[in-house]
Amino acid sequence: MKNRVYLVTGATSGIGRALALRAAQAGDTVFAGVRELSRAPSSENIRPIQLDVTNPEDVRRASETILQQCGNIDVLVNNAGFGVYGAFEELSEEQIRAQMETNYFGCLAMARAVLPSMRERRSGTIINVSSILGRITIPTGSAYTASKYAIEAFTESLRQEVKPFGIQVFAVEPGLIRTSFKQNMVKSHAVQKNDSPYAFLNRMIQKEYSGFSTSQERAADRIYKLSQKKRPARRYRVGLDASFYYTLSRILPDSLLDNLVALGVRREFKKTS
Ligand SMILES: NC(=O)c1ccc[n+]([C@@H]2O[C@H](COP(=O)([O-])OP(=O)(O)OC[C@H]3O[C@@H](n4cnc5c(N)ncnc54)[C@H](OP(=O)(O)O)[C@@H]3O)[C@@H](O)[C@H]2O)c1
Repeated sequence: MKNRVYLVTGATSGIGRALALRAAQAGDTVFAGVRELSRAPSSENIRPIQLDVTNPEDVRRASETILQQCGNIDVLVNNAGFGVYGAFEELSEEQIRAQMETNYFGCLAMARAVLPSMRERRSGTIINVSSILGRITIPTGSAYTASKYAIEAFTESLRQEVKPFGIQVFAVEPGLIRTSFKQNMVKSHAVQKNDSPYAFLNRMIQKEYSGFSTSQERAADRIYKLSQKKRPARRYRVGLDASFYYTLSRILPDSLLDNLVALGVRREFKKTS
């Protein structure tokens, strides 16, 4: 396959950084979208570009710059994102709106910026980095999972609209990937308060989960390979845990899934009461 032009958002760390490096190593031209240019990955073929996906001016300037420099964008990877976690009642309106601004509206803004040129060329790929939490939910994840469920719906609908123009749109659904995600997580204001009625849930957020995790390089390699598919499917899981939980959610009835989650929650709840 000939070398292509990638735009990866959120390329300072984690999956985005590893993906930018992976594509650059393969000889593709990679525009690494970052909020702070000094934190961009550095390698031959990587061109750092100022890009906060919630800033309309950045979004416009970034897409125009790439089109001026290269004439086209072959692959947009909507990766920028973070997690807001906490019991819904203890999350602020601002936190929830900020979550949607980046994870969901940021993804829409980027798609809007690249679609006209992709449509004219009758080619292009948009990859939306969702999550396994875009298919299944967890307590404390109401804000994050809603943003990822929204991405899933957006992906499905947009995919159908632009397929006639030769544009491919699909979602990737990572499980637990070893990145700075947890460090960068925004937690509810009450997460440290022992007297919170939701202390049992807050304890769950603080725990380290590392069980079946995947390295960021491995996740990036998988996403890179998926980006080369001529006819990609709607969505792909990334990581064994993602496939495992997704399969469980498909084969078990809702009532049983509810009970399984409730068991864990009840155990934590009993410790407080
Ligand atoms: N790690 C996981 O287990 C996991 C699982 C499922 C899905 N995901 C998804 O994978 C994606 C990447 O996350 P990660 O795990 O690699 O976490 P990460 O290491 O924290 O990386 C997140 C990246 O997004 C950037 N970002 C955040 N807000 C942004 C904004 N408004 N504009 C532009 N960039 C922004 C961050 O930039 P700064 O450095 O400037 O903050 C950083 O480069 C996210 O969409 C996340 O939801 C992660």
